[in-house]
Amino acid sequence: MYKDKPYFAPRRTGPRLRRRRILYGGIALFMLISVWYIVFGNWKQPGLRTPDSAKGEELWTWVQSLDETEPEYNGIVPKGIDWSARREKVKDTFTVSWDSYENHGWGLDEYHPKAKNGKTMVAGGMGWIIVDALDTLMIMNLTSRVQHARSWIHNTLQYNQDHDVSTFETTIRMLGGLLSAHYLSTTFPDLAPIANDDDDLYIEKAADLADRLLGAFDSNSGVPFASVNLNTSEGIPSHADNGASSTAEATTLQLEFKYLAKLTGEAEYWRVVEKVMQVVDDQQVKDGLVPIYIYPETGQFRGNNIRLGSRGDSYYEYLIKQYLQTSEQEPVYKEMWDESLMGVRKHLIAYTKNAQLTILGEKPSGLDGALSPKMDHLVCFLPGTIALGATGGQPLSQAKKSPGWTQRHDEEMLLAKELMKTCWATYLATQTGLAPEITYFQVDSPAVMESDAYPDSTLATGNRESEHKELPFKSKPVYPLEDRSSKWREDIQIHAQDRHNLQRPETVESLFYMYRITEDETYRQWGWEMFKSFVRHTAVVEHDNHFTSDDNTNGQGTSRIVGFTSLSNADTIPPVQRDNMESFWMAETLKYLYLLFSDRDFLPLEENVFNTEAHPMPRFQLGGDLKTGWSRTSRES
Ligand SMILES: *[C@@H]1O[C@H](CO)[C@@H](O)[C@H](O)[C@H]1NC(C)=O
Ligand SMILES: *[C@@H]1O[C@H](CO)[C@@H](O)[C@H](O)[C@H]1NC(C)=O
Repeated sequence: MYKDKPYFAPRRTGPRLRRRRILYGGIALFMLISVWYIVFGNWKQPGLRTPDSAKGEELWTWVQSLDETEPEYNGIVPKGIDWSARREKVKDTFTVSWDSYENHGWGLDEYHPKAKNGKTMVAGGMGWIIVDALDTLMIMNLTSRVQHARSWIHNTLQYNQDHDVSTFETTIRMLGGLLSAHYLSTTFPDLAPIANDDDDLYIEKAADLADRLLGAFDSNSGVPFASVNLNTSEGIPSHADNGASSTAEATTLQLEFKYLAKLTGEAEYWRVVEKVMQVVDDQQVKDGLVPIYIYPETGQFRGNNIRLGSRGDSYYEYLIKQYLQTSEQEPVYKEMWDESLMGVRKHLIAYTKNAQLTILGEKPSGLDGALSPKMDHLVCFLPGTIALGATGGQPLSQAKKSPGWTQRHDEEMLLAKELMKTCWATYLATQTGLAPEITYFQVDSPAVMESDAYPDSTLATGNRESEHKELPFKSKPVYPLEDRSSKWREDIQIHAQDRHNLQRPETVESLFYMYRITEDETYRQWGWEMFKSFVRHTAVVEHDNHFTSDDNTNGQGTSRIVGFTSLSNADTIPPVQRDNMESFWMAETLKYLYLLFSDRDFLPLEENVFNTEAHPMPRFQLGGDLKTGWSRTSRES
């Protein structure tokens, strides 16, 4: 088993090594295929699973019957809920999504569940959907499906393609997916156990892909180019934005490359991504808030647009997660996270006009410019990440007892809870119960900021001990739901071009952290309400009529769910469906829902970090060549 031993000779010897690896790979592949046919020769072709239409039918009948069987949530979590039964519904939803893809789109990188077709990005496919969903299959213990995905990766997946790919997306989805598959399959023998899977397939593929991606870092500054050609390993500047890369994209590769370095013993993987963090920090931005574009050639930022939505988000996420990944041995990342979070509170946190919902706005013209009261769905990762940062993933009840707990931590937890509530409100605000891609909020003019409202907070006074003083400015409750004219709803504005819902994970992700950390079942219940809305409104439903065509409304024939899709308009009933299933629906949204309804000791937060695509990886210790390798330059006071 591939563990704790440097696997490859020190990289990077370039194409020769690569060719040799391909040759060895080819031989190994041939032998494995032979063994496969000898062992499983008369086994059913795994690709030809019969569609499990019974499951799709059952799920549809269930969701249709919900109105009668389950009272609408009115703000109180009912007692005695069977969470493992709810978890099974998530698994059924995943199975229907996967089987639809497996039967009609197998190997495609883009899947259209209505037309039952799609596209590949490269000849044979990049594994965009298969590799991304693989660890969810493992977590849900769907063994035969894991077996099928594994043999596809083994037999079909080839990265030596003359194709330009996004450095970031390929790292978080493909490299992250392979690394997680390696981690879960080697560490949890009970999850989707497969015979003969000890040939290091996932880690070999991961290292092959990472070697190709490394060329993206060959810029003057070390900041990676937006894209890279997989065959030549040549970095390619963005075709837009004057060649600048997105800041979040350049700084959301670290967990993956660092874990790969740990597994292979190749420090080069570590060095290239660590360097990026140094270059960014050397720019000495004010209050830890970075503009959303950065030039690979100079390492300097482009423009002064600051936000925690698209292109900014996961820079912040990976600060705290890098600190946790290496078991809190790299204080520089905690320091950077703390600085950024204080900056967020000082410059971006504001309150809505009527209901005092806490919002996280944007500063499109820099910190001295006006606040834009707008939240991308993407920023809803933040409540969970704030709670993770405050507690390290421990239950709050325990974290509060630690000697290092201060008033600042209490304030951060309050902020996490209030932002969580705002994200939940964006789901309640639409007809389907599913959030729009972007939400605008009504604020006073000028907006009331956290820094105005709390002269006594640690924003002004630094990191003082908790004084048990009241932490005010809580929003009004975001309930009752039926009162759509209530104050909080007046604060929410959805523009016509933002009404789509791509089945994104960020709010569910935060609910998962908030539940595990606060142990408050409200968050699970919110997740359950959201899950039901997803099943009701994003299901692709087919109706059979075995009888005549003139009367198909009288309950004759059957209806069943045959897949799940994004929506073009989530604010009308019935919603306007698109015909596309994003890979993060199976990789993230359904995984986080499943984990939200699981016991908290399943993949515990104290031992793992999830990358920004929900791929879990273990925390580990620094050692040998794997170390921070830089320190912050001194700041002007
Ligand atoms: C990969 O690039 C090399 C040149 O570096 C070229 O000779 C070869 O044909 C390319 N292979 C593919 C699959 O495009
Ligand atoms: C997963 O399924 C296998 C049977 O395929 C079973 O032996 C194992 O106990 C299951 N693991 C878990 C964690 O439920």
